[in-house]
Amino acid sequence: MGNFSEFDLKMTRRALELAALGVGQVSPNPLVGCVIVDKNGQIVGEGTYIYDNVVHAEVIALEQAGEKARGGTAYISLEPHAHTGRTPPCTDALIKAGIKRVVCPIEDPNPLVSGRGFKVLREHQIEVVTGILAEEAHKLNEKFFVWHRKKRPFVHLKMALSLDGRISLNRTVSTTLSSQISLKRVHELRHEHDAILVGSNTVITDNPLLTDRSGRPRRRPLVRIVLDNRLRIPLNSRIVETAKDFPTIVFSNSEYEEKIKLLAEKKVKVLQQDARNLHKVLKTLYSLQIQSVLVEGGAKIAGAFVDSRLIDKVSFIYSPLIVGRSTAPVAVEGRGADSLETAFRLKNIDVKKLGEDVEITGYPTE
Ligand SMILES: NC(=O)c1ccc[n+]([C@@H]2O[C@H](COP(=O)([O-])OP(=O)(O)OC[C@H]3O[C@@H](n4cnc5c(N)ncnc54)[C@H](OP(=O)(O)O)[C@@H]3O)[C@@H](O)[C@H]2O)c1
Repeated sequence: MGNFSEFDLKMTRRALELAALGVGQVSPNPLVGCVIVDKNGQIVGEGTYIYDNVVHAEVIALEQAGEKARGGTAYISLEPHAHTGRTPPCTDALIKAGIKRVVCPIEDPNPLVSGRGFKVLREHQIEVVTGILAEEAHKLNEKFFVWHRKKRPFVHLKMALSLDGRISLNRTVSTTLSSQISLKRVHELRHEHDAILVGSNTVITDNPLLTDRSGRPRRRPLVRIVLDNRLRIPLNSRIVETAKDFPTIVFSNSEYEEKIKLLAEKKVKVLQQDARNLHKVLKTLYSLQIQSVLVEGGAKIAGAFVDSRLIDKVSFIYSPLIVGRSTAPVAVEGRGADSLETAFRLKNIDVKKLGEDVEITGYPTE
């Protein structure tokens, strides 16, 4: 932490905004935005990192600024790297451009980068100011942080519920509880993630498509994942019928070779491992470079994730209706807690209205 002004705060916020423009287009790398301000306090360059463009946000902004960068300040959403990866070190570019001050909220969690970028800059007499909007910067790259720190994808559990906590009218009927505004929000959530995951019953009952229909560009198609040990996924389901267009993975320990062959013909990839072992499922997804997974249910899958504590974020979208039917499935059907102390508790709660619906988001306390 160093000295910073209102202007620093404003420019750092702008760097975060620029970084956010890359949502859907950077994974498995982080979101990065950069603003270059000249000696007179004028913005002379701005950059957003997009994976397929290869060039980093700092370099884009510095190129725009040209000679005006000399003696100026770089506002960057995440620590610049000091190693050679797909591109030369960004720290070199900042030093060469004559930047005198770098304002950057947080260190990069990637062990190749962490702390080293700031160290190199300081060794070159560049003032480095950290800590401004650190929480916001961390949240922006929360998937990237979990991916590096836990060596598994970020897991976000999302469910749509009635006010009495039901997720459908009954287990065998597809029920859309959410409003159009909420459904739009769901596609935004899908857009943020690399994969979407459901249980076999959800495929059988709802016959969902599970695609990203946000209309926004994404670098890699959303990977659809079904946990299905008995391999009950219907061959004529929409997921299977569209697997040639959208990557689809089924985790199953079934040895039903004939069905595996038929699914393979439809381009569904069956990974023969126990779908009940969620640690191993996530390990496999990590090895496939999947940085984040949106878990969309149903109740048993939500229960399994809650029981295993393999959840990094929760979003429940409530619609203003009461199903009031005792046989209607509740949102989470796992072993659950036997005391309030062992209940899965959330913190940093955010409440957002989506038309008449309400989205509640939180993070596990442990
Ligand atoms: N409102 C919402 O947000 C929402 C979202 C999705 C679904 N739904 C509704 O939820 C209902 C379906 O939920 P559901 O609980 O019946 O089914 P589910 O959670 O979709 O699927 C459960 C099945 O998944 C398989 N499975 C594989 N790995 C598992 C694991 N690690 N843990 C638990 N199960 C695993 C099991 O079958 P095998 O033993 O054969 O593997 C299990 O029977 C439907 O009514 C659907 O409409 C609502």
